[in-house]
Amino acid sequence: MAGLFITMEGPDGSGKSTQIALLKQYLEKKGYETVLSREPGGTAISEKIRDVILDRENAEMGYRTEALLYAAARAQLVEEVILPALDAGKAVICDRFVDSSAVYQGIGRSLGIEEVYRINEYAIRGIMPDVTFLLDLDAAEGLRRKRNQAELDRMESESQAFHEAVAEGYRMLARKYPDRIKRIDGSASIAEIHEQIIRELP
Ligand code: ADP
Ligand code: TYD
Repeated sequence: MAGLFITMEGPDGSGKSTQIALLKQYLEKKGYETVLSREPGGTAISEKIRDVILDRENAEMGYRTEALLYAAARAQLVEEVILPALDAGKAVICDRFVDSSAVYQGIGRSLGIEEVYRINEYAIRGIMPDVTFLLDLDAAEGLRRKRNQAELDRMESESQAFHEAVAEGYRMLARKYPDRIKRIDGSASIAEIHEQIIRELP
């Protein structure tokens, strides 16, 4: 596998989509054919699963069901998009990946990080990012940014405490995997964050 697999992580509203668009331009200038994807979603099937997960009417969804649905959406994305693109030598930039499940389901929902990675091993078949950028932003600030954009979905409507646990969970993950996960101050300017991401590319 000769491609480059990059994931962007961080709380809701931390600037992931913004940075992914800039990184794509940069990589294409460098000659990489670049594929963008988002989670949950990125394939027709995964987008349908996304609708089920994020529908605010699904208030009774169990946490294990939620974790398995994220993993199922991810399995389809790996099989249909990520693996073929990496095999073809392309760069893949994914808006969220398995670390989101580790933090939101493992910590936010208290299912346990190890348990969540374990159920995801089956879905991702050993495919892990070459580098992961964590846009570290205060949870409340991220949601403030989001609220300006659209109505909040089922996950975004979770409590302030949930989102703070998520933001802290990400910092913990970055300390645990310092070689792979690069923490970046998400409150810096868009241009500053972009520069730092480029400096940290493998
Ligand atoms: P995410 O994909 O992580 O949810 P977005 O990239 O959609 O985040 O950004 C959420 C909102 O915050 C958008 O309105 C975007 O323009 C704005 N934004 C992104 N990066 C920054 C930044 N560094 N400083 C201030 N606002 C930002
Ligand atoms: P999305 O709306 O695409 O992210 P953002 O709001 O940052 O643009 O993500 C959907 C929600 O799903 C988001 O609140 C994070 C959550 N999520 C999980 O709980 N577990 C996961 O494995 C993934 C990929 C996302």
